[in-house]
Amino acid sequence: MQVSRQMVPKHLSEFVRFTPWDSRALGLDTFEILTCSEEVFRLIVQNAAPGHYTVRVDPLSSKKALHECGFYYCDTLIEPFCDLESFIDFQHDNVHLSTSTPIEDLISISANAFFNGRFHRDFNIDKSLADLRYTLWLKDIHHSKSVFGLMYYETLAGFWGYSENKIVLHALGSDFRGKGLSKYFWSAACRELFQQGHSELVSSISFSNTPALNLYISLGFKFRNSYDLYHLMIQ
Ligand SMILES: CC(C)(COP(=O)(O)OP(=O)(O)OC[C@H]1O[C@@H](n2cnc3c(N)ncnc32)[C@H](O)[C@@H]1OP(=O)(O)O)[C@@H](O)C(=O)NCCC(=O)NCCS
Repeated sequence: MQVSRQMVPKHLSEFVRFTPWDSRALGLDTFEILTCSEEVFRLIVQNAAPGHYTVRVDPLSSKKALHECGFYYCDTLIEPFCDLESFIDFQHDNVHLSTSTPIEDLISISANAFFNGRFHRDFNIDKSLADLRYTLWLKDIHHSKSVFGLMYYETLAGFWGYSENKIVLHALGSDFRGKGLSKYFWSAACRELFQQGHSELVSSISFSNTPALNLYISLGFKFRNSYDLYHLMIQ
Protein backbone atom coordinates (compact mmCIF):
# COMPACT_ATOMS: atom_id res chain seq x y z
CA MET A 1 0.00 0.00 0.00
CA GLN A 2 1.25 3.47 -0.93
CA VAL A 3 2.29 5.58 2.05
CA SER A 4 0.79 9.06 1.85
CA ARG A 5 3.11 12.05 2.19
CA GLN A 6 0.33 14.48 3.12
CA MET A 7 1.89 17.56 4.64
CA VAL A 8 0.30 19.30 7.58
CA PRO A 9 -0.62 22.90 6.58
CA LYS A 10 2.05 25.27 7.93
CA HIS A 11 -0.29 27.22 10.21
CA LEU A 12 -1.33 23.93 11.91
CA SER A 13 2.08 22.28 12.15
CA GLU A 14 2.56 23.50 15.72
CA PHE A 15 -0.56 21.58 16.81
CA VAL A 16 -0.74 18.55 14.53
CA ARG A 17 1.64 15.88 13.27
CA PHE A 18 1.29 13.38 10.42
CA THR A 19 1.35 9.70 11.59
CA PRO A 20 2.70 7.63 8.67
CA TRP A 21 2.62 4.37 10.68
CA ASP A 22 -1.20 4.57 10.85
CA SER A 23 -1.62 6.06 7.38
CA ARG A 24 0.13 3.14 5.63
CA ALA A 25 -2.40 0.67 7.07
CA LEU A 26 -5.59 2.67 6.91
CA GLY A 27 -5.01 4.02 3.39
CA LEU A 28 -5.88 7.61 4.31
CA ASP A 29 -4.01 10.52 5.84
CA THR A 30 -3.82 10.20 9.61
CA PHE A 31 -2.81 12.85 12.13
CA GLU A 32 -2.32 13.30 15.84
CA ILE A 33 -3.35 16.54 17.53
CA LEU A 34 -0.63 17.62 19.94
CA THR A 35 -2.32 20.54 21.71
CA CYS A 36 -5.60 20.11 23.56
CA SER A 37 -7.56 23.36 23.49
CA GLU A 38 -10.92 24.50 22.21
CA GLU A 39 -9.21 26.96 19.80
CA VAL A 40 -7.11 24.20 18.25
CA PHE A 41 -10.07 21.82 17.87
CA ARG A 42 -12.07 24.54 16.07
CA LEU A 43 -9.08 25.55 13.91
CA ILE A 44 -8.65 21.94 12.80
CA VAL A 45 -12.29 21.41 11.91
CA GLN A 46 -12.35 24.66 9.91
CA ASN A 47 -8.94 24.45 8.20
CA ALA A 48 -7.49 20.97 8.24
CA ALA A 49 -7.00 18.60 5.32
CA PRO A 50 -9.28 15.57 4.93
CA GLY A 51 -8.15 12.60 6.97
CA HIS A 52 -8.37 10.85 10.31
CA TYR A 53 -7.42 12.78 13.47
CA THR A 54 -6.58 11.46 16.96
CA VAL A 55 -6.39 13.43 20.18
CA ARG A 56 -5.44 12.24 23.70
CA VAL A 57 -7.28 14.07 26.46
CA ASP A 58 -7.37 14.07 30.25
CA PRO A 59 -10.34 11.86 31.26
CA LEU A 60 -11.43 14.55 33.77
CA SER A 61 -11.47 17.43 31.25
CA SER A 62 -14.67 18.73 29.66
CA LYS A 63 -15.50 17.07 26.33
CA LYS A 64 -17.96 19.78 25.26
CA ALA A 65 -15.75 21.38 22.59
CA LEU A 66 -14.71 17.97 21.24
CA HIS A 67 -18.34 16.93 20.79
CA GLU A 68 -19.25 20.27 19.22
CA CYS A 69 -16.43 19.81 16.69
CA GLY A 70 -17.51 16.26 15.75
CA PHE A 71 -14.89 14.25 17.65
CA TYR A 72 -16.09 10.92 19.04
CA TYR A 73 -14.82 8.71 21.92
CA CYS A 74 -12.84 5.58 21.05
CA ASP A 75 -10.92 4.31 24.07
CA THR A 76 -9.33 5.01 27.44
CA LEU A 77 -5.71 3.92 27.81
CA ILE A 78 -3.83 3.37 31.04
CA GLU A 79 -0.12 2.78 31.74
CA PRO A 80 0.86 -0.30 33.79
CA PHE A 81 4.31 0.06 35.41
CA CYS A 82 6.44 -2.12 37.67
CA ASP A 83 9.93 -2.13 39.16
CA LEU A 84 11.96 -5.21 40.03
CA GLU A 85 11.11 -5.02 43.74
CA SER A 86 7.37 -5.10 43.08
CA PHE A 87 7.54 -7.74 40.33
CA ILE A 88 5.81 -11.04 41.20
CA ASP A 89 7.51 -13.75 39.16
CA PHE A 90 5.48 -16.89 38.27
CA GLN A 91 7.75 -19.75 37.17
CA HIS A 92 6.68 -22.61 34.90
CA ASP A 93 9.11 -25.36 33.79
CA ASN A 94 7.57 -25.69 30.32
CA VAL A 95 7.24 -22.02 29.43
CA HIS A 96 10.15 -20.42 27.61
CA LEU A 97 10.97 -17.65 25.14
CA SER A 98 12.06 -17.99 21.51
CA THR A 99 13.90 -15.31 19.53
CA SER A 100 13.67 -17.11 16.19
CA THR A 101 9.95 -17.43 15.48
CA PRO A 102 9.06 -16.82 11.79
CA ILE A 103 6.98 -13.68 11.24
CA GLU A 104 4.20 -15.66 9.49
CA ASP A 105 3.58 -17.65 12.71
CA LEU A 106 3.38 -14.45 14.76
CA ILE A 107 0.96 -12.85 12.28
CA SER A 108 -1.37 -15.84 12.46
CA ILE A 109 -1.65 -15.22 16.24
CA SER A 110 -2.10 -11.46 15.93
CA ALA A 111 -4.97 -11.75 13.39
CA ASN A 112 -8.20 -10.95 15.28
CA ALA A 113 -6.41 -10.65 18.66
CA PHE A 114 -6.64 -6.87 19.01
CA PHE A 115 -10.42 -6.40 18.99
CA ASN A 116 -9.98 -4.07 22.00
CA GLY A 117 -7.87 -1.63 19.96
CA ARG A 118 -9.04 1.91 19.33
CA PHE A 119 -9.13 1.50 15.55
CA HIS A 120 -11.17 -1.69 15.92
CA ARG A 121 -13.65 0.28 18.01
CA ASP A 122 -13.78 3.18 15.53
CA PHE A 123 -16.95 2.77 13.42
CA ASN A 124 -15.29 4.75 10.59
CA ILE A 125 -12.50 2.18 10.15
CA ASP A 126 -12.82 -1.16 8.40
CA LYS A 127 -11.84 -3.98 10.82
CA SER A 128 -9.53 -5.60 8.25
CA LEU A 129 -7.55 -2.32 8.02
CA ALA A 130 -7.39 -2.09 11.81
CA ASP A 131 -5.95 -5.65 11.77
CA LEU A 132 -3.49 -4.66 9.05
CA ARG A 133 -2.18 -1.86 11.29
CA TYR A 134 -1.19 -4.46 13.90
CA THR A 135 0.28 -6.80 11.27
CA LEU A 136 2.54 -4.04 9.92
CA TRP A 137 3.52 -2.99 13.45
CA LEU A 138 4.40 -6.62 14.29
CA LYS A 139 6.54 -6.84 11.13
CA ASP A 140 8.45 -3.71 12.24
CA ILE A 141 9.06 -5.16 15.71
CA HIS A 142 10.11 -8.51 14.22
CA HIS A 143 12.47 -6.71 11.83
CA SER A 144 14.11 -4.90 14.77
CA LYS A 145 14.47 -8.28 16.57
CA SER A 146 12.44 -7.07 19.55
CA VAL A 147 9.85 -9.82 19.83
CA PHE A 148 9.79 -13.04 21.85
CA GLY A 149 7.83 -16.06 20.74
CA LEU A 150 6.03 -17.36 23.85
CA MET A 151 6.57 -21.13 23.86
CA TYR A 152 4.50 -23.71 25.74
CA TYR A 153 6.56 -26.91 25.53
CA GLU A 154 7.51 -26.70 21.81
CA THR A 155 4.31 -24.95 20.67
CA LEU A 156 4.07 -21.25 19.91
CA ALA A 157 1.40 -19.84 22.26
CA GLY A 158 1.82 -16.11 21.68
CA PHE A 159 4.21 -13.22 21.17
CA TRP A 160 5.60 -10.34 23.20
CA GLY A 161 7.06 -7.28 21.49
CA TYR A 162 9.09 -4.66 23.33
CA SER A 163 11.12 -1.53 22.80
CA GLU A 164 13.74 -0.98 25.52
CA ASN A 165 11.65 -1.10 28.76
CA LYS A 166 8.27 -0.76 27.01
CA ILE A 167 6.03 -3.77 26.44
CA VAL A 168 4.51 -2.63 23.17
CA LEU A 169 2.51 -5.41 21.48
CA HIS A 170 1.56 -8.71 23.00
CA ALA A 171 -1.03 -11.45 22.61
CA LEU A 172 -1.74 -15.10 23.23
CA GLY A 173 -3.25 -17.27 20.51
CA SER A 174 -6.97 -17.89 21.05
CA ASP A 175 -6.34 -21.57 22.01
CA PHE A 176 -4.18 -20.44 24.95
CA ARG A 177 -6.35 -17.61 26.29
CA GLY A 178 -8.56 -17.80 29.38
CA LYS A 179 -6.61 -20.68 30.98
CA GLY A 180 -4.63 -18.68 33.55
CA LEU A 181 -1.39 -19.23 31.61
CA SER A 182 -0.60 -15.63 30.68
CA LYS A 183 1.17 -14.83 34.00
CA TYR A 184 3.80 -17.52 33.28
CA PHE A 185 4.56 -16.21 29.78
CA TRP A 186 4.60 -12.57 30.96
CA SER A 187 6.82 -13.48 33.92
CA ALA A 188 9.41 -15.09 31.63
CA ALA A 189 9.44 -12.07 29.30
CA CYS A 190 9.49 -9.45 32.11
CA ARG A 191 12.29 -11.39 33.83
CA GLU A 192 14.30 -11.20 30.60
CA LEU A 193 13.86 -7.39 30.33
CA PHE A 194 14.81 -6.89 34.00
CA GLN A 195 17.90 -9.06 33.36
CA GLN A 196 18.79 -6.75 30.46
CA GLY A 197 19.18 -4.02 33.09
CA HIS A 198 15.89 -2.11 32.97
CA SER A 199 14.82 -0.89 36.40
CA GLU A 200 11.17 -0.31 35.47
CA LEU A 201 8.87 -1.87 32.86
CA VAL A 202 5.90 0.00 31.36
CA SER A 203 3.08 -0.80 28.96
CA SER A 204 -0.14 0.72 27.66
CA ILE A 205 -3.47 -1.08 27.70
CA SER A 206 -7.11 -0.32 27.11
CA PHE A 207 -9.12 0.18 30.27
CA SER A 208 -11.73 -2.14 28.73
CA ASN A 209 -9.23 -5.02 28.45
CA THR A 210 -10.04 -6.71 31.76
CA PRO A 211 -7.94 -9.89 31.20
CA ALA A 212 -4.87 -7.68 30.52
CA LEU A 213 -5.63 -5.48 33.57
CA ASN A 214 -5.95 -8.52 35.83
CA LEU A 215 -2.81 -10.04 34.35
CA TYR A 216 -0.75 -6.93 35.15
CA ILE A 217 -2.21 -6.73 38.67
CA SER A 218 -1.22 -10.36 39.34
CA LEU A 219 2.38 -9.57 38.29
CA GLY A 220 2.63 -6.64 40.74
CA PHE A 221 2.15 -3.78 38.27
CA LYS A 222 0.44 -0.54 39.30
CA PHE A 223 -1.28 1.95 36.96
CA ARG A 224 -0.85 5.65 36.08
CA ASN A 225 -1.35 8.18 33.28
CA SER A 226 -4.80 7.37 31.98
CA TYR A 227 -6.14 9.32 28.99
CA ASP A 228 -9.16 9.23 26.71
CA LEU A 229 -8.70 8.88 22.97
CA TYR A 230 -11.03 10.78 20.66
CA HIS A 231 -11.13 10.45 16.88
CA LEU A 232 -12.37 12.73 14.11
CA MET A 233 -12.85 11.93 10.42
CA ILE A 234 -12.74 14.88 8.02
CA GLN A 235 -14.04 13.86 4.57
C1 LIG B 1 -4.39 -10.15 27.49
C2 LIG B 1 -4.15 -11.65 27.42
C3 LIG B 1 -2.69 -11.93 27.13
C4 LIG B 1 -4.49 -12.28 28.80
O1 LIG B 1 -4.35 -13.68 28.71
P1 LIG B 1 -5.54 -14.67 29.04
O2 LIG B 1 -5.09 -16.04 28.79
O3 LIG B 1 -6.78 -14.21 28.36
O4 LIG B 1 -5.74 -14.41 30.60
P2 LIG B 1 -5.60 -15.46 31.79
O5 LIG B 1 -6.58 -16.57 31.62
O6 LIG B 1 -4.17 -15.81 31.98
O7 LIG B 1 -6.11 -14.53 32.98
C5 LIG B 1 -5.41 -13.36 33.38
C6 LIG B 1 -6.13 -12.77 34.56
O8 LIG B 1 -7.34 -12.13 34.14
C7 LIG B 1 -8.47 -12.81 34.65
N1 LIG B 1 -9.38 -12.97 33.51
C8 LIG B 1 -9.35 -13.89 32.54
N2 LIG B 1 -10.31 -13.67 31.65
C9 LIG B 1 -10.98 -12.57 32.08
C10 LIG B 1 -12.09 -11.82 31.59
N3 LIG B 1 -12.71 -12.17 30.46
N4 LIG B 1 -12.48 -10.72 32.28
C11 LIG B 1 -11.86 -10.36 33.41
N5 LIG B 1 -10.80 -11.03 33.92
C12 LIG B 1 -10.37 -12.12 33.26
C13 LIG B 1 -8.02 -14.10 35.25
O9 LIG B 1 -8.73 -14.39 36.42
C14 LIG B 1 -6.53 -13.84 35.54
O10 LIG B 1 -6.31 -13.32 36.81
P3 LIG B 1 -5.66 -14.27 37.94
O11 LIG B 1 -4.41 -14.87 37.37
O12 LIG B 1 -5.40 -13.32 39.06
O13 LIG B 1 -6.73 -15.27 38.23
C15 LIG B 1 -5.05 -12.34 26.35
O14 LIG B 1 -6.40 -12.17 26.71
C16 LIG B 1 -4.83 -11.83 24.94
O15 LIG B 1 -3.89 -12.23 24.27
N6 LIG B 1 -5.77 -10.97 24.46
C17 LIG B 1 -5.75 -10.49 23.10
C18 LIG B 1 -4.60 -9.54 22.84
C19 LIG B 1 -4.56 -8.43 23.84
O16 LIG B 1 -5.58 -7.93 24.32
N7 LIG B 1 -3.32 -8.00 24.15
C20 LIG B 1 -3.10 -6.90 25.06
C21 LIG B 1 -3.17 -5.64 24.30
S1 LIG B 1 -2.63 -4.31 25.29
